Amino acid sequence: MTVEILTGEYRPWILPEGFDIVELDLGCGKGGFLLSLAEKFPDRLVIGADVMLGRLRKVARKVTRRGLTNVRLLRVNAWEFVAHNLADNAIDRIHILCPDPWPKARHRSKRLVTSEFVGRTTGKLKKNGVLHLSTDHGEYLQFMNAAISPLSCLRADASTISDIAMIKTDFEADFEKAGCTVSHLAYRAARRL
Ligand SMILES: C[S@@+](CC[C@H](N)C(=O)[O-])C[C@H]1O[C@@H](n2cnc3c(N)ncnc32)[C@H](O)[C@@H]1O
Repeated sequence: MTVEILTGEYRPWILPEGFDIVELDLGCGKGGFLLSLAEKFPDRLVIGADVMLGRLRKVARKVTRRGLTNVRLLRVNAWEFVAHNLADNAIDRIHILCPDPWPKARHRSKRLVTSEFVGRTTGKLKKNGVLHLSTDHGEYLQFMNAAISPLSCLRADASTISDIAMIKTDFEADFEKAGCTVSHLAYRAARRL
């Protein structure tokens, strides 16, 4: 399979047809989570998106080896992807798992999970769609909560990720081996923006 390059492409990305349910792993990294998701739900489209092309190419080889036909891999910059490429009302569940925490104060503006980004991303969810976040970083967890709490379009609902509680991302598995706890946040889109 090939990785589709969307960086620098300011045009709508056409969602593949034939899938009723669409999951997006934004910042998919080495792809362990999306591969398990695609195997668990062969009737769903699973989109893996990341800015690092080398990582995506390795994921593509794993997709081919496992014979998965329900995966698409996109090289994106998450902000551009949400602003320009991804249609509104398109995705059932968006996962942003263990995003880079940018712990230094001078780097905080690089964090993905801000009120503006989450607000825009929520607009990409179908009605009753789900936003799933995680982090091992306590201060980023507070930052995420503070970013999301003003957004009346999202309602916390942990039951929306109970079906995938056993699926770990590569980072989560590494953090847990090192004795760190990874916290998960899950929300249902209460209404469209
Ligand atoms: C800390 S890793 C987590 C990877 C994976 N979700 C996991 O938990 O194993 C963060 C990932 O987000 C990607 N990333 C960071 N900023 C991004 C951006 N602006 N757009 C797309 N991907 C981004 C990185 O390339 C990296 O693969």
